[in-house]
Amino acid sequence: MPMSKSQESVWWRDAVTYQIYIRSFADANGDGKGDVEGIRSKLPYLKKLGIDAIWITPWYPSPQNDHGYDVADYMNIEPDYGTLEQAEQLIREAHELGIRFIVDIVPNHSSDQHRWFQDALNSEPGSPERNRYIFREGKGEHGELPPNNWQAVFGGPAWHRITESNGEAGQWYLHLFAVEQPDFNWENPEVRAHFEEVLKFWLDRGVDGFRIDVAHGMIKEQGLPDITTDPELLKVQKMPYWDQDGVHEIYRAWRKILDSYPGDRMAVAEAWVSPTSLPLYLRNDELANSFNFDFLDSKWDRKVLKKSIVRTIKNLSGLGAPASWVFNNHDVTRSVTRFDLGLKGGGVSTIKQRFGNTKKFNAERGVRRARAGAMLMFALPGGAYVYQGEELGLPEVTNIPQDRLTDPRWKMSEYTDPGRDGCRVPLPWAAAEAGSHGFSTNAELSDQDSWLPQPAWWGKYGADSQESDENSTLNIYRKALAIRKTESGLGDGKLKWVDMGKEVLAFSRAGDFLCLVNFGDPIKVPKGAEVLHSSSPLDGKKIPTDTTVWLRTKSK
Ligand code: GLC
Repeated sequence: MPMSKSQESVWWRDAVTYQIYIRSFADANGDGKGDVEGIRSKLPYLKKLGIDAIWITPWYPSPQNDHGYDVADYMNIEPDYGTLEQAEQLIREAHELGIRFIVDIVPNHSSDQHRWFQDALNSEPGSPERNRYIFREGKGEHGELPPNNWQAVFGGPAWHRITESNGEAGQWYLHLFAVEQPDFNWENPEVRAHFEEVLKFWLDRGVDGFRIDVAHGMIKEQGLPDITTDPELLKVQKMPYWDQDGVHEIYRAWRKILDSYPGDRMAVAEAWVSPTSLPLYLRNDELANSFNFDFLDSKWDRKVLKKSIVRTIKNLSGLGAPASWVFNNHDVTRSVTRFDLGLKGGGVSTIKQRFGNTKKFNAERGVRRARAGAMLMFALPGGAYVYQGEELGLPEVTNIPQDRLTDPRWKMSEYTDPGRDGCRVPLPWAAAEAGSHGFSTNAELSDQDSWLPQPAWWGKYGADSQESDENSTLNIYRKALAIRKTESGLGDGKLKWVDMGKEVLAFSRAGDFLCLVNFGDPIKVPKGAEVLHSSSPLDGKKIPTDTTVWLRTKSK
């Protein structure tokens, strides 16, 4: 077995990766949806922001039932977003600017419009075509009941019954997510071979890595057993479709493919698993990188955050894998809103948890906390992920009209969970009130005309209006990322906790760098320390509440 490359010096150990949700990033062709050319037009902006890599959400042909996470063809580009040639040019141009490029791979399920699934529907039960997915006979006298009691993540049963070619109700197929997202059968070598080909297809086009969607899925427990109905057992038992041992075999095979390419190619796992299980994905011969959702799940609370950081570092020790800190992505409520409302479990979605009591929402405090959180994240050892719009201080949009909601969660939860659209609203590039706040090149489009409507106040966060204000969220992010590059103690390495009282989280990094997050009443800047950066303006010599400062402590 070839040895895996050493992880000691790989670029992702301390990279800051910017997540682009393509549909909402920038619309160059004027159809109200973001596209590849839109991203290209913003490369200078990303360069100036100071990020090291881009991760782009699925841009493959897709009927968009789950906005690209239902892939119809893994080796092409969605026509609404552009062409393969344009995608190749984007990868090249990002590289010319020194920006790495990560694509999203969705191996747990495809779209029901994928050729393989259509072939499966048009073939007989038991055929090789059906065997690429998970088809089963139903229970009950006439097969009228689902094969087991599994529930879909978006709500409702995880099984859907098909009509066979003879017009009769027939087999059921498994879909852990939307009905339009049938789960692949990873016990079938053909499925494995296909994904290895997909990885090579994109590696050949120069991508530096992959974000692996639902990396804890794919393998299901043998026999597809029912889930326990005992509420106590439910709390401790692993679901028979998550985090099964067999997934690791897949990643060992993928690691070999990644390592067979020149340069350092990576993969980052989207694995919603327990902090104790996560290290398994990070083994040197597997993915070696994973989002830290334990951190993302934390509410804005000194103790909770410190606990998560300590736990992360402990769990990673000895593995050699870097931590990857993240507070935002396209699936969770934006941190501005979450931190202000004291919401935890950013990954769980119910109306109450996502939107809390919106009446009490204080945008100024939310932005202040989110910026402080970002500067905490950028000071921690390891890599970090930033989700588009986070650098503008965008809050969640909590009042998208119900008839405009598009997330499959909305329908599948029987209209009890509005889903994730609120963090996916097209970006405001311009403060201008007319049009789509700079999102689309099409001046005819109003802020109601893009694929998701923008609220009237969206322009307040416009990127252009943040340019000249040195205290804007955008400039706070830029300065933090610039310092991160030049300050030798930041990025990879170790941290040392410093006790500064009950309301302050403080740690030092190599050299004389100190990161201090003040959760309590304003405090004085420590004597003799030089302030390198602050997430909110200081009040004279005082560090306000909910503010992170980066300091250089002078040696005595
Ligand atoms: C992941 C994606 C999410 C998607 C789901 C199904 O969790 O981040 O957006 O809906 O997988 O593919």
